[in-house]
Amino acid sequence: MKNPSQTSSLRELQTLFESDTSLPLAAGNNPVFGEGPANAKILAIGEAPGAEENRLRRPFIGRSGQLLRKCLIEAGIILEKDIYITNVVKHRPPENRDPTPEEILAYAPYLDRQIELIVPQIIITLGRFSMNKFLPNARITQVHGTTELTHFHGHKLMLIPMFHPAAALRGTTVMNFFRADFSKLKSSLDYLVTMGLETENSVVPQNNSSNLPIQNALL
Ligand code: URA
Repeated sequence: MKNPSQTSSLRELQTLFESDTSLPLAAGNNPVFGEGPANAKILAIGEAPGAEENRLRRPFIGRSGQLLRKCLIEAGIILEKDIYITNVVKHRPPENRDPTPEEILAYAPYLDRQIELIVPQIIITLGRFSMNKFLPNARITQVHGTTELTHFHGHKLMLIPMFHPAAALRGTTVMNFFRADFSKLKSSLDYLVTMGLETENSVVPQNNSSNLPIQNALL
């Protein structure tokens, strides 16, 4: 069997993923690889599929997904054109429990290759599991809505950690933060357009507007 890093298109990667019976949560679940254009400017990464996502084989399609998609549209993002949506873990954990570190590790080669093939200019992480991939020591309450200049396998990109929409649905405070953070996404996108960078495969902001140091961990 091929290795995810040896695939040369998202389609090929998806075919490999869907036939990979070694993945820890594959048994009894449908695969939820991700959806969106292969050249998306923005990549949104959630945690793992829930019941609706498992049923329909699509990411973020249940209640949290409806909130996410509504906020994206309000921020001026065209879902079919601008954004690819996926998860750290691509099969549903039993009873929607948190994914284990071993599960996150097992699915990582697929997420890594998705990032390498899409080459997004902006990554938004939804919740702590996807945030921790890029910012292992960060706390979401402190960094949500900040922009980080980061690198992934040699590509510069802007990282915007956000709360998970399910957390926003649980309380007004997080809901207000969650909604407000989309204005950061919108201004980051506007920045790309203004700088004429929206068609390039990397983004180089003039200054790092975040309150955290630039992360080089993934270089
Ligand atoms: N929550 C996630 O993290 N991902 C989904 O796809 C749905 C709900």
